[in-house]
Amino acid sequence: MSLSIQTNQLTKSYGRSRGIIDVTFGIQEGEVFGFLGPNGAGKTTTMRVLMGLLHASSGSATIGGLDCWKASTEVKKLIGYLPSEFSFDPGLRGAQIIEYLGHLRGGVDQSSVRALIERLGLDPSKRFREYSHGNKQKVGLVQAFMHKPRLLILDEPTSGLDPLNQQEFYHMVAEVRADGRTVFLSSHILPEVEQTCDRVAIIREGRLVKIDHVAALKEIRQHDVELSFPDTASIEWFKTVAGVTSVAQGADERTLQLNVQGPLMEIIHLASQHDATNIATREPTLEEVFLRFYEPEQAPSALAG
Ligand SMILES: Nc1ncnc2c1ncn2[C@@H]1O[C@H](COP(=O)(O)OP(=O)(O)O)[C@@H](O)[C@H]1O
Ligand SMILES: [Mg+2]
Repeated sequence: MSLSIQTNQLTKSYGRSRGIIDVTFGIQEGEVFGFLGPNGAGKTTTMRVLMGLLHASSGSATIGGLDCWKASTEVKKLIGYLPSEFSFDPGLRGAQIIEYLGHLRGGVDQSSVRALIERLGLDPSKRFREYSHGNKQKVGLVQAFMHKPRLLILDEPTSGLDPLNQQEFYHMVAEVRADGRTVFLSSHILPEVEQTCDRVAIIREGRLVKIDHVAALKEIRQHDVELSFPDTASIEWFKTVAGVTSVAQGADERTLQLNVQGPLMEIIHLASQHDATNIATREPTLEEVFLRFYEPEQAPSALAG
């Protein structure tokens, strides 16, 4: 059986508030597929429907041809799942939680558990309530990866992890991909999806806006650049440079505010020709990028219904 994921016009409403609307996508076995969207976009809702934890209002979701709601027990057995807020009995120690979940699963190789604990730098002797958000996340990652599932569904897996652990997580995903196994992960961080995934579905306000190879993310990746000069700066210097989507005066006449798509090389070169005294760059948040790229709804927080 091929463990592909397929949703068709999947819709889930929470009473009057929208969850997700007409979400249709497919993931082939062996893909690392990213689900990118700002907070409240509908990532967790979609993943919970796939896990058979939420009943869709309409549309369908199948994994390996099995209906995610009707065959949820069978479906869950096939998957390693990291929920968006991994929580457990607060009095149990990390090692006990992992052991308990391992027994439930069956067939968990203890050496792979130890290796995961070591890689992520988790102290398994602490009680769950004593763990920081990042350490809870590590317990969640160990239990999702430990039985080497053919399909991993990971809801914001790097949330709370420090940069070193994030890198380790990226290696873990690369190994799963090399094994020919499948990963479906959600994130609100564009560079993270760019780095880890083959394809990406972009979700905004409950609806899919794009499904493409991650290379397409280059088109929406941007930098905000602030340039300072010793004397009055002219907007004209940068107006016609390739990739510059806007130029405006900054806090005073000696600073310029640019929005740039693509490489910054030419900007830096030009700035230095004009004796720039400072260059500050910032990567806009996904919310800001989306507001620039996709037509906002009439009211920013408008809910359907
Ligand atoms: N239990 C719930 N009751 C009511 N609305 C909910 C519930 N869970 C999620 N929502 C709403 O559904 C939308 C999508 O939420 P969610 O799937 O959690 O997004 P994401 O995971 O992308 O941050 C949001 O508008 C959110 O407010
Ligand atoms: Mg979420």
